[in-house]
Amino acid sequence: MPRSQISRKLVKLTRQLQMLQQSPPLARGAPSGTEASLQRKAGILPSLEDLLFYTIAEGQEKIPAHKFTTALKSTGLRTGDPRLKECMEMLKVTLKTTSDGALDRHLFKKCVQSNIVLLTQAFRKKFVIPDFQSFCGHIDDLYENAKNLSGGQVADYIPQLARFSPDLWSVALCTVDGQRHTVGDTKVPFCLQSCVKPLKYAIAVHDHGTEYVHRFIGKEPSGLRFNKLFLNEDDKPHNPMVNAGAIVCTSLIKVMNFMNKLAGNEYVGFSNATFQSERESGDRNFAIGYYLKEKKCFPEGTDMTSILDFYFQLCSIEVTCESASVMAATLANGGFCPITGERVLSPEAVRNTLSLMHSCGMYDFSGQFAFHVGLPAKSGVAGGILLVVPNVMGIMCWSPPLDKLGNSVRGIQFCTDLVSLFNFHNYDNLRHFAKKHDPRREGGDQRVKSVINLLFAAYTGDVSALRRFALSSMDMEQRDYDSRTALHVAAAEGHAEVVRFLLEACKVNPVPKDRWGNTPMDEAVHFGHHDVVTILKDYHNQYSPQDTAVEKQSAEKNLDGML
Ligand code: DON
Repeated sequence: MPRSQISRKLVKLTRQLQMLQQSPPLARGAPSGTEASLQRKAGILPSLEDLLFYTIAEGQEKIPAHKFTTALKSTGLRTGDPRLKECMEMLKVTLKTTSDGALDRHLFKKCVQSNIVLLTQAFRKKFVIPDFQSFCGHIDDLYENAKNLSGGQVADYIPQLARFSPDLWSVALCTVDGQRHTVGDTKVPFCLQSCVKPLKYAIAVHDHGTEYVHRFIGKEPSGLRFNKLFLNEDDKPHNPMVNAGAIVCTSLIKVMNFMNKLAGNEYVGFSNATFQSERESGDRNFAIGYYLKEKKCFPEGTDMTSILDFYFQLCSIEVTCESASVMAATLANGGFCPITGERVLSPEAVRNTLSLMHSCGMYDFSGQFAFHVGLPAKSGVAGGILLVVPNVMGIMCWSPPLDKLGNSVRGIQFCTDLVSLFNFHNYDNLRHFAKKHDPRREGGDQRVKSVINLLFAAYTGDVSALRRFALSSMDMEQRDYDSRTALHVAAAEGHAEVVRFLLEACKVNPVPKDRWGNTPMDEAVHFGHHDVVTILKDYHNQYSPQDTAVEKQSAEKNLDGML
């Protein structure tokens, strides 16, 4: 196997292990991870693939391919996500063998098995934003609100920026679990300009460590315009987010493939025309460069003019709103790219970068932005704002008209509205700020883990709720204070479909006894539900004595765990 393939596999495996480790504990009384997987292998518990099938199929025999992809997208995953490559390739091949473009349980299993960990996490709503659809609805509203703004000036000091329409406006986000949402002109390439400053600083710290980098650059907001010809008391640039600091930072980095890795291999280009124009119109930057040279701000042996060229080149790196949101998400995710699982930056580099973006990232508006928005961000003269919600998501807002301080008018509005609606501000209290939404809160599905909800779903015959519970690792054999199970209740109410689901998909104990010694069969007979009686009898007859013994043992063990 080629090395690249081996390392891709390793990265995937590591990622899968991380996700498994992040899984919350199973419900009380449910078998432990190893126990559950042994039982799955023995056929006593349904496989994850089966549970996923039942969840998406909603009672049908087959899942049409489009239903699967639509359900997938609703979790925030994209069909083009590199982590789902095997599943999507298998789906393509498999669909060619079907006449109706639909997958039965066997074909479905074949398609999902290589990516089952990620898919199960997605459908169990274990991602950082569990209710992704409703979150995206809010994002779209904020986008529309900012779209109506008309103020600001598109930068016109070079033709490559002046040509952009003031109407361009886009927002893209990528969560730390790789959930994606985009709205507006998200595929139009534009130059990072100053949004590249935090990225190159992160690369410099990743390569050389904090101590070395800050031998050359300070950590304080300058309180001055970004291109001011000015150094601090130690004759160092104030910080890496202003031009002087960014130029020195440029002299510390050597590799460019970081940019591709940061963006999970999504669009990263280069505008040579912008580079040429930046160089031609860059007198101020040359002035800063000579000043830095005079004050010996560069590492020894640095050729200042070639570093300036490199600086202009880095400003001319092109991204789309979409690809830049992945870069921001890599920062939000501690240096791991969410969609490739690759570690791109060290935790030290990411923490430093976020700290300095927080205090110095928004030009002379940095203090106000830190106060009102309370999130690390960096703006650029092309109209981009790279925004990070640490541990949650990365966002890129792009709209060319700039306010007097050089920040995108619509971008600022969006960021401000975002933290008014959600408790993302660094100092929002996560427990007691009832007026704001917390999209990280576990959605309804996560909270309904109590036996009451399980039994209520069985009572009302709500099979789709039961499917969700089963996929969420809920112990489907849980008992109430009278030792009654969902199967007792469904049998007493005559919900044949529920009884079938609990027996066949969840493989629950078919003969649990409640506190009066009654089994589900007793209930079905008592209330005259003949169809349920037949289902229970048939199921009982199919059971081999060996299976029953193993199953009984497992049921008893689960019960022990609960008492
Ligand atoms: O250095 C310059 O003047 C620009 N090319 C960088 C522009 C920018 O985004 C302003 N930033 N701080």
